[in-house]
Amino acid sequence: MIVDFLEDLKRVGAAPQAPDAQRLLRAAALCSTVSELACKLPYRPNCYTRTLLHEQQEFEILLLRWAPGAFAPIHDHGLQRCYFAIVEGTLSVDNYRRVDGGTGAGEAKIVAVDNAELTKGEIDARIEAWDLHRVANRSAEEVLTLHVYARPVKDFLVYDEARNSCSLGQNKPDFTLSALSL
Ligand SMILES: [Fe+2]
Repeated sequence: MIVDFLEDLKRVGAAPQAPDAQRLLRAAALCSTVSELACKLPYRPNCYTRTLLHEQQEFEILLLRWAPGAFAPIHDHGLQRCYFAIVEGTLSVDNYRRVDGGTGAGEAKIVAVDNAELTKGEIDARIEAWDLHRVANRSAEEVLTLHVYARPVKDFLVYDEARNSCSLGQNKPDFTLSALSL
């Protein structure tokens, strides 16, 4: 299924605003072979674990396992576009926008926009540059998510709402599928 998903994404283009790409992502997330693969990937308690499935110049695909209580702090996506679908479980997404006009690390003003609870097959899409979010597993169950970044994200910013600041983060996967012996 992942191979089919990759080939389909290459065909339609991986940009998250493309309806076909979101339809393909949802179909992949609902496929039992994807959740079966995710359950074989490395898992770490109390945090989320990112495994890179595929990377090419235009996009990268990752599967994430979110332990109960795991969260990603408020962040942007390095001016790239990002979308993910829920494979299993329920994930909380708190949406923010950067409103100070800045583009780098240092002082940064952000405002809360809204929030959502996403369940199996639902999609979160980050299309505009300053669409920020905090993502958290506030449930008692593990959550699995399938992500597409277009283009691959290398550097991004992490935001501190209370201090009106942000700092540079680096986007490295915890594991790479090709290096795992499954
Ligand atoms: Fe994100």
